Amino acid sequence: MFTASYIIAASQLFAFAFGAPLVGASPKQARSLVARTAYKVFGGDGTPAQGWPQESEWKSFEDLWSANVATTLQSCTQFGMDNNSQEESDNIKKAIQEVSGTSGVKAEFLLAIVMQESKGCVRAPTTNYGFDNPGLMQSFQGTHSCNPNGQGVVPCPYDMIKGMIEDGAGLNGDVGLKEGLAQVGGDDVSKYYKASRIYNSGSIAGDGNLNGGIATHCYATDVANRLIGWTDADQHGCDEATIGSVGGGSANTAPAGPSDGGETTTPVDTTTPPATGGCAKTWTPNAGDNCSTSGVDFATFQSLNPSIDANCANLQAGTAYCVPN
Ligand SMILES: *[C@@H]1O[C@H](CO)[C@@H](O)[C@H](O)[C@H]1NC(C)=O
Ligand SMILES: *[C@@H]1O[C@H](CO)[C@@H](O)[C@H](O)[C@H]1NC(C)=O
Repeated sequence: MFTASYIIAASQLFAFAFGAPLVGASPKQARSLVARTAYKVFGGDGTPAQGWPQESEWKSFEDLWSANVATTLQSCTQFGMDNNSQEESDNIKKAIQEVSGTSGVKAEFLLAIVMQESKGCVRAPTTNYGFDNPGLMQSFQGTHSCNPNGQGVVPCPYDMIKGMIEDGAGLNGDVGLKEGLAQVGGDDVSKYYKASRIYNSGSIAGDGNLNGGIATHCYATDVANRLIGWTDADQHGCDEATIGSVGGGSANTAPAGPSDGGETTTPVDTTTPPATGGCAKTWTPNAGDNCSTSGVDFATFQSLNPSIDANCANLQAGTAYCVPN
């Protein structure tokens, strides 16, 4: 089920590939709708005993939706794509609710992963660290996208939006959130934080620390924060370099930002690439590019991107590939 290659394959757009600051709704606008939520660093194994949030602390789906729509969810500026239309954003909400019903994966959790992976842009590009990770949920070998080959589809049809959510939920394959939750098992809320880590990196580190090991270290603590109402407009308090060594029970609170006035823009994602993830930098070919235009020696390029065939015949425009830093 979870192959070794999957471990380096799953990704999130923002940890590696698209570090550009997001131009979101102004914090002022966000604050008028929702209180700013301080980021808490959750260390350890995902259990409430180690300080992670109880499900009763999660915000409702409607509240989470409002908070994210007000701040980040409409924008595709970070990808140079047309922003979501109101209808497309409305359709994400509708699709999450429908797919939650068919998959049994909670809508709040689906939304948190959508925001973590693509910030809700329906035209999010495909990343590839060995396998295609397309769409709103950057799902492992997903088959739905409104950005095939770097061409944004406008409008993004409802069926495609729903397909992207189904891919991530795990209705179209065997490595989605549903399977991650089943793999973890149990009824305790920690299964969500553990499943988020599995979704990102294919496995949980041997010591059970959800923020350690390979891949995006802040992923699980980011998802937990999203479930209790943190959005990208609020300050990010997780340090990718040190979180792996933060143990359980250390719920540090980051400043919540100014309480009024001031158009302060907060960096959306201050995470840096993981030390062992191998993908510190990416390159996205345009139509007409080939492996040599990446500027990287082919053997190196191929070793970083195992999906590339021996003749580089399957390079795809608009897909982000790993290159050496
Ligand atoms: C896209 O949305 C962002 C954030 O709301 C906004 O700043 C930007 O101007 C929008 N772009 C277009 C082309 O409307
Ligand atoms: C790759 O593209 C460059 C630039 O267009 C070109 O000079 C080169 O011949 C191409 N290489 C291959 C193997 O097609």
